[in-house]
Amino acid sequence: MSITRRGFLESAVVASLATGLNAQDKSKRSQTPEPSSAKRPIILCSNNGRNYLDDAFLFLKNGGDTLDAGLHVVKGPEDDPFDDSVGLGGLPNEDGVVELDACCMHGPTRRAGSVGGVRNIKNVSLVARAVMEHTGHVMLVGEGAERFAVATGFPRESLLTDRSRKVWLLWKEAQSTNDWWGPGLASPQWKPPLTPPQSKVWEERIHQLEEHAAQLGIEPEFRAAAIRRVLSPPTGTIHCSTLNDKGEMSGCTTTSGLAFKLPGRCGDSPIIGAGCYTDQDVGSAGATGSGEENIKVAGAHTIVENMRRGMSPQEAGMDALQRIVRNFNNDMTKLKFMDMTYYILRKDGAYAGVSLWEHSSPTSVHRIAVHDGTRRSEQTVALFKGVSQEFPPFPVTIPPELKEDSVYLK
Ligand code: GLY
Repeated sequence: MSITRRGFLESAVVASLATGLNAQDKSKRSQTPEPSSAKRPIILCSNNGRNYLDDAFLFLKNGGDTLDAGLHVVKGPEDDPFDDSVGLGGLPNEDGVVELDACCMHGPTRRAGSVGGVRNIKNVSLVARAVMEHTGHVMLVGEGAERFAVATGFPRESLLTDRSRKVWLLWKEAQSTNDWWGPGLASPQWKPPLTPPQSKVWEERIHQLEEHAAQLGIEPEFRAAAIRRVLSPPTGTIHCSTLNDKGEMSGCTTTSGLAFKLPGRCGDSPIIGAGCYTDQDVGSAGATGSGEENIKVAGAHTIVENMRRGMSPQEAGMDALQRIVRNFNNDMTKLKFMDMTYYILRKDGAYAGVSLWEHSSPTSVHRIAVHDGTRRSEQTVALFKGVSQEFPPFPVTIPPELKEDSVYLK
């Protein structure tokens, strides 16, 4: 079931493959090319798929199948133990177990496949395709999905890397002083629970996390990133939509889901119509970000249907974001704790990347990756300026110097 790079390319030849508080504050920048300048073939994906775009584009250009091309892109991060948002090395659930979600849609045959809450199988995007190809179902979850994967040839393997295990332990220790995780009373490392003055609580908390991270053996250069994951559990995911020169389209999305989630939680990624939706009569869309919010607006389906009614890719995506905003009655005290990015590809090759917040962290912006003969990353068009905040929120205000400049929040 695994695809080697050589095999993949050979098969192509054979196939001949600031916290802005105003929801009306829409950016004037549009990345959507006019239909006349839109190119085919084209691949659009999350920025963590960028390194896998060259091979996939060549495959697509040489006549390869649109879904196979997309799966090649998302399989890269699934195989990468250092990408902790998907597959091997994904951040685990609250029990320390990696549970993966994925789905795919094949435009030419109008089929779909999906798996949710899968343990011990790395390439769940390929398992989603196997569900599509080898069953009469669309979605398998949990133990049944794992057994199906093994039956169809996928190896069972441990997905929890040492690094992700240590980040999970750090998170576990950081949760509270009211449980038995972390240094006990007998430990020389034990410290009394944090007490006021409140302004110092945050600083002290970061300092404690830093000490814990060092005790856990988290390497110094990864410590700041690990602390950020603990303070703000990520929902890292990868989506890819593809379009060939015949107008065929496919889409796929894969993820380890929200870090430290409750066991059994499925996000939007395996939900056809939320994490991914493709109808090659119109276009294809996918999502990364706050899964719960995206499920409630059926984001990817909403976007494709918006384009069917004549909206541009950017307008279609902004409308889906506005529906999330509407679900919270424009309440910025809540909206600041979520984020969402949509990847939108229309059948003529016009595309857009839109996000709820401009920044993915105080120091970097949300980006999509594109290949239409030229591989590049592009900034998304954002509904709100600034960056979303960590959730659950801390009971203290973060001192400005930590919020803006601290390496811990990069
Ligand atoms: N969007 C990924 C998740 O929420 O699981």
